[in-house]
Amino acid sequence: MASIAPTIGRVAKSTSKSHSRNFAKVFLGVAGSAAVATYFYNNNNKNNNNNQSNSNGPRHALMSLFGGSAANVKVAKIPDGKTQADYQKVYNDIATKIAENLEFDHNSGYYGQLLRLAWHVSGTYDKSDNSGGSYGGTQIFAPEEFDPENAGLQVGREFLMEFLIRYPWISRGDLWTLGGVAAVQESGGPKIEWRPGRVDDNTAAHVPPNGRLPDASKDGKYVREIFSRQGFNERETVALIGAHVLGRCHTHNSGYDGPWGPSFNQFTNVFYTTLLGNWHVKNWKGKKQYEDDETNEFMMLPTDMALKEESYFLKYVKMYANDQDLFFKDFAKAFAKLISNGVKYPADNKPMYFKTLEEQDDS
Ligand code: HEM
Repeated sequence: MASIAPTIGRVAKSTSKSHSRNFAKVFLGVAGSAAVATYFYNNNNKNNNNNQSNSNGPRHALMSLFGGSAANVKVAKIPDGKTQADYQKVYNDIATKIAENLEFDHNSGYYGQLLRLAWHVSGTYDKSDNSGGSYGGTQIFAPEEFDPENAGLQVGREFLMEFLIRYPWISRGDLWTLGGVAAVQESGGPKIEWRPGRVDDNTAAHVPPNGRLPDASKDGKYVREIFSRQGFNERETVALIGAHVLGRCHTHNSGYDGPWGPSFNQFTNVFYTTLLGNWHVKNWKGKKQYEDDETNEFMMLPTDMALKEESYFLKYVKMYANDQDLFFKDFAKAFAKLISNGVKYPADNKPMYFKTLEEQDDS
């Protein structure tokens, strides 16, 4: 069987610092409420952007493309005068805060938390009517906020909250997706193409319904359907789920428990090499999940195991297990697509790539 214990550069020290659920104070906690009020004030006054359509020209063209609903026209609009240098500053602040909190959550750091946040705010997308997705920053509104699949993500939103205050011109959708980019790059993953201009929808009029984010107890067919609704094929689906290399499951969020493998704070292709090892159903009172035969320390969700069970997924699992560069290339492309799903970028909105903190130290 494939070894599940590769050498990981940034190894986890054991720590008594527990996974602090104090962070999990709700978005509108006492200390946060003034800040939130300031934030909403600023946001409602910037760019007149509290609705989703910005101009009539592209809007009409898009209306016909997406079945005639003006609500689902999502044209990116960069805040006045902002350039890549401004967004690099925000990136640097997020990356610095990540680096200052490496012991968080059993030494997972915030990589997993921020990557999952970026995925869940984007993964509500439905290509059939261009609804959902990262554009409107709707995850602070019911019912999306209280979707059981989003349990625990207030931790990531709260982590990023100070940057909404410090940079009042940035939208929630831009900040949350930028957080995901920082998580991947700062943990050693590939460069991710990112574009600005998502516009806050503070009317809460276009909040996607619950049920669009995947339920981990399901099978491969279901996984294929969920990702196909967002416009992904099987190869992209397998590449995206490789994100489970980072972070861990928490019984208080999902009912599942533990990290997927030993690379939980470093972005690598180890999710696939681990998955190709031998697994058995964990003997416990919790939800059905799998445990590795070798160490009993790692876990897989039923939907992760489905990638091994279905031939239309398995070939890509093997491909990425054998070739980390290929995984990085495919993941970067699929993740950039995920975080921009539904957003229409005008021609002058060019892709941005951010330097990691390490690259900036070197230069
Ligand atoms: C079939 C698809 C998927 C299912 C069923 C699924 C399910 C889950 C579950 C149940 C958790 C544990 C949450 C917790 O207990 O805190 C989790 C965590 C996570 N997921 Fe997924 N996921 C899927 C796809 C993805 C994708 C596409 C990404 C990113 C591109 C992703 C990134 C993550 C990350 C980074 C974590 C760790 C969070 C942390 O450390 O707090 N997942 N996922």
